[in-house]
Amino acid sequence: MSSVVVAGTGSYVPDRVVTNEDLSKIVDTNDEWISTRTGIRERRFASDEEAASDLGIEAARRALADAGMDASELDAILVATCSGDMIFPNTASMIQHAIGARQAFCLDLSAACSGFIFALKVAKDMIRGGSERAILVVGAEKMSTLLDWEDRDTCILFGDAAGAAVLTLSDEPDTGLLVEQLASDGSLGELLSVPGGGSRAPMSEQVLADRMHCIKMQGREVFKHAVVNMTQAALDICEAAGLHPDDIACYIPHQANVRILRAIQERLEQPEEKFFVNLHKYGNTSAASVIVALDEAVKSGRIKTGDRVMLAAFGAGFTWGACILKWTR
Ligand code: ACO
Repeated sequence: MSSVVVAGTGSYVPDRVVTNEDLSKIVDTNDEWISTRTGIRERRFASDEEAASDLGIEAARRALADAGMDASELDAILVATCSGDMIFPNTASMIQHAIGARQAFCLDLSAACSGFIFALKVAKDMIRGGSERAILVVGAEKMSTLLDWEDRDTCILFGDAAGAAVLTLSDEPDTGLLVEQLASDGSLGELLSVPGGGSRAPMSEQVLADRMHCIKMQGREVFKHAVVNMTQAALDICEAAGLHPDDIACYIPHQANVRILRAIQERLEQPEEKFFVNLHKYGNTSAASVIVALDEAVKSGRIKTGDRVMLAAFGAGFTWGACILKWTR
């Protein structure tokens, strides 16, 4: 049976570096607290002129170049984002226009920090279904627009970035995207949300005054659920693939908090070196996080041909999931 493989990856972060020290001049925090509690040392913020699509466009161009493909070869573009340019049109259509992917139909997918993995699964099944042969999957976020500078619990956590992957069909069996497992629990949605600005609480002076257009998070609860659910997803997916966690050469978890990553790594009884970490540079970039980390891991030589790689994520919804790839490039 043919496989769905990653033909190329790319990522892009804006130029502006914002250190913990910089944040301590805006909110009551300090580098020591942020780095020991989260592992984050700095993050990137996009400029006022840059929106999520601008970051996604650059990541998409890099992924296409990496795949040696032209945008005209794309059949579809899926963009995972919770900070898209506008309510509509979707961000995917903006990226399509900029890169000249005229044949591609475009849709955005919303699953917060799990969005990229959810979009990978959708794209894989679309290709498997036979109607599309090449799909661009993008995670693009300008999280800095959702931050509440009066809430030091959350404003220190997030950053802006985008990553992209081109998925194609391969004749080689049992390679590329091997298995995915996704889950959601809507009963816990209130623990992590941006409650205002949608149809529940449309934008108003009150919404702005109550900071409801910004991220609201119960950090400790999110932390616990992230550890438990990502660990379980990793174990379940290994079992589904007939693998042991030892068989995974590189883990690419959602980059939210290094303590979450360490807790999962210990529960899976894996060495620290197997867990790729770049959150010290970028913070939590939501749907961009996993694909930016995958791209960096590949480009830095951490992932080699034939390696089994696990991606895992957890985010608002709650949503979570994992997938295992056999790296083909
Ligand atoms: N600087 C200094 N002190 C702070 C800061 C800050 N930025 N933020 C909180 N504190 C203080 C608190 O006020 C509290 O003080 P107190 O003890 O005097 O009351 C103390 O630090 C401890 O606060 P906690 O909230 O208990 O700290 P905790 O160790 O839980 O860390 C954190 C908070 C980093 C947010 C953690 O809970 C976390 O990472 N949660 C998960 C976040 C996450 O993974 N999100 C992923 C999904 S995001 C998405 O889907 C969009």
